[in-house]
Amino acid sequence: MAETTHQLLTVAEAIATRRSIRAYTSDPLNRDTIRHLLTAAVQAPTALHGEPWAFVVVQNAELLIAISKQAKSSWIKETAHYRDLHAAGRDDNAEKYLQTLEHDDFNIFYGAPALIVICGRPISPFVFADCWLAAENLMLAACARGLATCVIGSAVPILNTPDVKRELGIPADVSAVAPIVVGVPRGEAPPVSRKPPEILTWK
Ligand SMILES: Cc1cc2nc3c(=O)[nH]c(=O)nc-3n(C[C@H](O)[C@H](O)[C@H](O)COP(=O)(O)O)c2cc1C
Repeated sequence: MAETTHQLLTVAEAIATRRSIRAYTSDPLNRDTIRHLLTAAVQAPTALHGEPWAFVVVQNAELLIAISKQAKSSWIKETAHYRDLHAAGRDDNAEKYLQTLEHDDFNIFYGAPALIVICGRPISPFVFADCWLAAENLMLAACARGLATCVIGSAVPILNTPDVKRELGIPADVSAVAPIVVGVPRGEAPPVSRKPPEILTWK
């Protein structure tokens, strides 16, 4: 089991250096490490102190590959229609990603050894906000200990299908909100730019 010996980063360092990582070693994560990340996640602010989150952890590589295959075939079917409709004005990044999905050996989870799905119970209008705040906490905590993460938004639709929910033990009234892969990074993350903050008003 991979145990990180990485020196902990400060919050400011983790914010500045966290990147979405799309290549992982096969080193598994130990349960204590995953529990540490979940504990960080639940420290997030939560509307009305509702704590609507619940977590699914998948470390079974075969199951991740099976879910990836289902997600890919469902996206390919869904987007055929969309591609025809919007052929003229389509978004290049989206189009590139759709082309990648068509490769047989592409795994939407990038071969990461763990997927953590942050799920939300429908208790308030802020469930999604709460879950995404928990997601950022989890990703920064992972980054601080030298682990890599990537949000896998493309898994959300398949994770919310009745069959996959049943397989993962997600109750019918609970939604999969934020799927995040975690693992030991393979190689360096390419730099990613950001536009400077656009300030609309500063009175
Ligand atoms: C809601 C959401 C969904 C995302 N879905 C995916 C995805 O399905 N696959 C992927 O490789 N990256 C996904 N990402 C990662 C973004 O591509 C990434 O955050 C963005 O390119 C900025 O790069 P950075 O995270 O390295 O700063 C997602 C990010 C967010 C916030």
